[in-house]
Amino acid sequence: MQRALPLLAASLLMLAAATAPVAQGYNITKILAEHPEFSTFNHYLTVTHLAAEINRRLTITVLVVGNSGMADLLARHLSLLTLRNVLSLHILTDYYGAKKLHQLTGGSTLASSVFQSSGHAPGTTGYINITDHRAGKVTFSAEDGGGAPPVDFVKSVKEMPYNISVLQVSTILSSPEAEAPVAAPAPVNLTELMSKKGCKAFADLLLARPDILQTFQDNLESGLTVFCPVDAAVKAFAPKYKDLTADGKASLLLYHGVPVYYSPQLLKSNNGVVNTLATDGSNKNFNYTVQNDGTDVTLETHVVTATITSTLIDQDPDAVYAVDKVLEPRELFKVAEVVDAPAPAPAGSNKSKHASPLAPSGPDEAPADQATSANSAFRTTAVGRWLAPTAAALAASFLVV
Ligand SMILES: *[C@@H]1O[C@H](CO)[C@@H](O)[C@H](O)[C@H]1NC(C)=O
Ligand SMILES: *[C@@H]1O[C@H](CO)[C@@H](O)[C@H](O)[C@H]1NC(C)=O
Ligand SMILES: *[C@@H]1O[C@H](CO)[C@@H](O)[C@H](O)[C@H]1NC(C)=O
Ligand SMILES: *[C@@H]1O[C@H](CO)[C@@H](O)[C@H](O)[C@H]1NC(C)=O
Ligand SMILES: *[C@@H]1O[C@H](CO)[C@@H](O)[C@H](O)[C@H]1NC(C)=O
Ligand SMILES: *[C@@H]1O[C@H](CO)[C@@H](O)[C@H](O)[C@H]1NC(C)=O
Repeated sequence: MQRALPLLAASLLMLAAATAPVAQGYNITKILAEHPEFSTFNHYLTVTHLAAEINRRLTITVLVVGNSGMADLLARHLSLLTLRNVLSLHILTDYYGAKKLHQLTGGSTLASSVFQSSGHAPGTTGYINITDHRAGKVTFSAEDGGGAPPVDFVKSVKEMPYNISVLQVSTILSSPEAEAPVAAPAPVNLTELMSKKGCKAFADLLLARPDILQTFQDNLESGLTVFCPVDAAVKAFAPKYKDLTADGKASLLLYHGVPVYYSPQLLKSNNGVVNTLATDGSNKNFNYTVQNDGTDVTLETHVVTATITSTLIDQDPDAVYAVDKVLEPRELFKVAEVVDAPAPAPAGSNKSKHASPLAPSGPDEAPADQATSANSAFRTTAVGRWLAPTAAALAASFLVV
């Protein structure tokens, strides 16, 4: 399991964040917690994020195996990604209570599993053949089982018709396709990705600041969301950027990264303040408000409101979105209310429309100490004050490549 350890740690980290209640009214983790003989299966449902996937569904059947059956599976040292595929074969996307198992039309049926709909299953793999034998015995086998003997239905563990059914089976279902090694997704090359997808100018700004780029890269493993301004936006912003001090530039670039993974689903279903890579933990500065109207997602800095225009990549735990404006923090630029004030500032006044980067950020805010902000940004940890992401949303975006 050595190779799987970083992933395991990442999964656990993300699960710690997944605190939102479940809408469907059942929680597979809780159901199985009442049955210690399935504790290993239960544990692996959690670390593979499949528990959330189960809770998200409306009609589901889970085929569980006892701890000794799981021990056999774990002894094969599959990676966590492969383990997820194997276990997802045991989650049927329809409701099968014990009674229904004995009333199958024609004595057998093909049930689709979560593995079948995962995108990892080629052809007809991921379908489970349920057969009700004459003697009253019911068996399950994977369509691509490769001749492996079917596994037996043992007993019903929990039935909540027609929401969730938990059935014990004798051993793990065998499927060469599900057990095939899964390549871990290649690490994201941020600048290359941005350059290819409309954010080349922003990528170039990052490439010119290897120290800042490194901060972005350091967060790739634990979770990162980047909002990259499209080329036209960066071009229009160039004069203002040029006027920033080196520390101001650092803060501005870091302001476009959030040290938490936000999937498109999460952004579209939650509003709130996010901290950024530029945020100084003690000052809680360099933040912005994410707002959505169900379709469009905007980022409001108090200086500008940018809209997300596309998703460059959504590969848990990283996402990169294009935005139509450079995000201007109020720590570096005057807030919109001042800039848009109807009375023009007198000539020669310091309140020129092109705010000096060192100007106070707003009427009631003290000037930011740029040097402090920029330097401390390197130690920024994941401080997602905003959002308790729903387990379901996390699961939904898990391993989408
Ligand atoms: C499900 O139940 C477990 C165990 O009781 C609990 O720790 C977990 O927070 C619950 N999950 C959700 C999403 O409510
Ligand atoms: C399920 O498997 C049995 C035994 O191999 C076979 O006879 C039956 O036709 C299969 N059922 C379906 C629906 O494919
Ligand atoms: C199934 O879910 C529905 C809607 O979520 C709920 O009203 C019903 O009580 C649930 N059934 C059981 C047996 O828990
Ligand atoms: C990422 O892409 C850039 C080009 O944008 C390239 O210079 C760099 O070497 C790549 N980094 C890695 C780690 O492959
Ligand atoms: C956001 O940043 C401002 C300073 O720009 C700070 O006053 C405010 O408390 C921060 N909000 C949150 C929720 O951290
Ligand atoms: C502009 O700022 C400078 C330095 O802060 C100050 O000395 C000067 O009085 C200001 N001018 C105006 C017109 O406010």
